[in-house]
Amino acid sequence: MIVITAPTSSIGKKVLHSLLDSYPDVRVIARDANRIEPADRKRVTVVEGSHGDLEVVAHATEGAHAVFWLVPPNPKASSVDEAYSGFTRPGLAAMRSQGVRRIVGISALGRGTEQAGSAGLVAATLAMDDLIAESGIAYRAVTCPSFFDNLLRQVQPIREKGMFFSAVDPSRKLPGCATQDIAETSVRLLLDDGWTGSGHEAVLSPEDLSFEDMAAVMTVVLGKSVKCVRTDYDAYKQQFIGRGMSEAMAQGMTDMVRAKSEGLDNGEARTGQNTTRTSFRQWCEDVLKPAVNE
Ligand SMILES: NC(=O)c1ccc[n+]([C@@H]2O[C@H](COP(=O)([O-])OP(=O)(O)OC[C@H]3O[C@@H](n4cnc5c(N)ncnc54)[C@H](OP(=O)(O)O)[C@@H]3O)[C@@H](O)[C@H]2O)c1
Repeated sequence: MIVITAPTSSIGKKVLHSLLDSYPDVRVIARDANRIEPADRKRVTVVEGSHGDLEVVAHATEGAHAVFWLVPPNPKASSVDEAYSGFTRPGLAAMRSQGVRRIVGISALGRGTEQAGSAGLVAATLAMDDLIAESGIAYRAVTCPSFFDNLLRQVQPIREKGMFFSAVDPSRKLPGCATQDIAETSVRLLLDDGWTGSGHEAVLSPEDLSFEDMAAVMTVVLGKSVKCVRTDYDAYKQQFIGRGMSEAMAQGMTDMVRAKSEGLDNGEARTGQNTTRTSFRQWCEDVLKPAVNE
């Protein structure tokens, strides 16, 4: 049996949907079962609660051999490590006690780069990977660059003003990825019982693009001028504080975008296995354009 955490998240709902095509024995942990896609909800067992809770995870993973692990955002956390390792620790203890054999977790690019140690949320994500790897349960971290889907949060300025904002240096060429491709990599790993030990698998779009390049692609696909406007680091941090985020998490977000501007996401070489089929242009055609034209 396979357990899926965060089945209502952007990635988790795609993991669940695609896993159910080939594997029927699935349990999910959800705070509210009604938020799971109705067609998928009928086909799974739901354990209600948070996967940050030891007892919930212990109940859900009874008899499970593999778990999909996704840490939810915690804008109020008192530190970035509390948000990632602190959230993971109780569930990890539960998974160990239940004899779970394999975990596939959502993580971030950057390991081995000189920026990794001071990369805020990403540094904390990599520390969480180490924590899981040290548990002795076989682990694959699915290491992601920034999601193309993050741009969906900016549909309104794209539609109304032909602009979007980035605190990452808009001229730095970077890989990106579509959440659909993250889900496909995760499902492949969940269904493969041939791997052991700990390691990672990156999810990289076919080419590196800067945010300026992305604006040019959006201009063609949307048929209207789109430009990227840079937000400075201080304004970026203050905008999160203004929305109620803790000082530590706002600083962690800012440290992360600074590290990305300086090369955090440029350390992973493309291979046939880690390069996805979805280009940014394809993602714009399939996802962004319908959202902007809604
Ligand atoms: N965005 C990026 O560019 C990027 C890059 C690399 C890695 N990541 C990582 O990707 C992950 C986010 O993935 P995503 O965008 O797919 O997530 P998401 O869409 O933001 O969804 C998070 C889900 O977590 C659930 N949730 C919130 N608080 C919870 C709690 N206390 N306990 C249990 N569940 C809770 C929410 O569901 P309910 O409200 O239904 O419970 C929500 O559906 C993070 O770990 C992030 O670090 C992101």
